[in-house]
Amino acid sequence: MPTLIAPSVLAADFANLQRDSEMLNKSEADWFHIDIMDGVFVPNISFGMPVLKAIAKHATKPLDVHLMIVNPDQYIETFAELGSAVLTVHYEACDHLHRTLQKIKSCGMKAGVALNPHTPITVLDSIIKDVDLVCLMSVNPGFGGQSFIEETYTKVKTLKALIQEKGATTLIEIDGGVTNKNAKQLIDAGADVLVAGSYVFGAEDPIQTIAGLKEI
Ligand code: DX5
Ligand code: ZN
Repeated sequence: MPTLIAPSVLAADFANLQRDSEMLNKSEADWFHIDIMDGVFVPNISFGMPVLKAIAKHATKPLDVHLMIVNPDQYIETFAELGSAVLTVHYEACDHLHRTLQKIKSCGMKAGVALNPHTPITVLDSIIKDVDLVCLMSVNPGFGGQSFIEETYTKVKTLKALIQEKGATTLIEIDGGVTNKNAKQLIDAGADVLVAGSYVFGAEDPIQTIAGLKEI
């Protein structure tokens, strides 16, 4: 499967969301990555439902929604209604992860689990077959523009081995500090989806930058 590219709208120009959404529509990007932060689970507040609704109005590609919030269960139906294709919750924010994943799927979305950099892959041993996507955080969640944590390569390989051992079809997504400098090594290690925020939106030519990532 060719690697999927999911630019993170967190790094877009919020005063020009229609323009930046149309740019992603035109580009080779596969998904829109949408970061929802509540200021409790992470030390930052990004944006919520009204902004997602505005993006959804213009996006012609699947919305990959990454919830960095406590108590995600109470908003699952709302994110489904807003048009999320993939809904990712944090392992660290869920007391009953299995139940949360079932609820996401019952609302018609793909169910994702994100792991913070300090959380080992082994926490997914018993549940990996129920997970459509694992989002490995390659920075501490909360902010765009941070530098990539090198230990991520090892985690990708460990996760890939677990997925193969259990015969799961889970996609591996990498989120944080992704650039053309680490993309190849991540793909070689087993990554299926690359999220890139500041690398794409900070580039002189975002469309060309996305095409460059896609080529790797
Ligand atoms: C971090 C977010 C990321 C972020 C990535 O908490 O989950 O999706 O937007 O941004 P860059 O690519 O700039 O690290
Ligand atoms: Zn994210």
